[in-house]
Amino acid sequence: MTAPSSGGDRGPPAEGVVAPSPATSVAEDAALLESIQGQPLPSHVAVIMDGNGRWAGMRNLPRVAGHREGVKAARETVRAAGRIGIQYLTLYAFSSENWTRPAAEVDFLMRLLESSVDEELPELVQNNVCLRILGETNSLSSGVRRSIERAVHATQANTGLTLLIALNYGGRRELVRAIRALAGRVVRGELDPYAIEETDVSGALDTTGVPDPDLLIRTSGEFRLSNFLLWQVAYTELLVLPTLWPDFSPRDLCLAVADYQRRTRRFGGL
Ligand code: FPP
Repeated sequence: MTAPSSGGDRGPPAEGVVAPSPATSVAEDAALLESIQGQPLPSHVAVIMDGNGRWAGMRNLPRVAGHREGVKAARETVRAAGRIGIQYLTLYAFSSENWTRPAAEVDFLMRLLESSVDEELPELVQNNVCLRILGETNSLSSGVRRSIERAVHATQANTGLTLLIALNYGGRRELVRAIRALAGRVVRGELDPYAIEETDVSGALDTTGVPDPDLLIRTSGEFRLSNFLLWQVAYTELLVLPTLWPDFSPRDLCLAVADYQRRTRRFGGL
């Protein structure tokens, strides 16, 4: 997603991004899966799914065709995250800035999100996936709200992968809502303002109870956070891939995890 979009230049991937993965065999994929599962996995992987529009443009297709393909990539990514054993997967599906896109594209995305949640619900239930939503759902259409409420309710007791979909989400707005909630507790005399700690802020965010992302993947080669999980990514490992989101495959997710496993995390220490 370009969320918000910088618009304009959509040239080749910037220098320094990881090279695309070559085509590989089923046996190699199985070996890769086994290898990453033999080492500590990231508990939480977050993804900025960018590049649907460019994927469509390169094929002379309307942008919405890219979003349709993007849903397929999202489905495969959720399945792969479950197979790998990742505990939390967060997907940035629609930012609070995406409303500025043409109304027809916004309408299409909303209908697509609603139908995707409806269609995927049986598989989410079957695969023990717990769905959570990040962002402000109250300003979404009643149809989208109904779909996500039903899916969240139907999966809330599931104990496998937690899938967090960021929908009408903006990191700054999330922080403003958290600050308001904390200020409300101060006004009611429930909280001493000088005793507010980082854990209080974390606990007031939409991600309460979820560990911060260990790995953030952004597809399509743009080096931006786009207002995504601003508080939570303080020590997250970042990976920018040139791959456009509809082309992102389960193997790309495994390679991203392998890249993460080669890194040394110091959290500000030595
Ligand atoms: C970015 O491509 C993608 C989005 C705006 C998000 C929409 C994502 C999907 C439809 C995937 C499905 C997700 C779920 C959870 C069902 P872009 O339009 O910004 O591409 P561009 O940068 O090439 O224009």
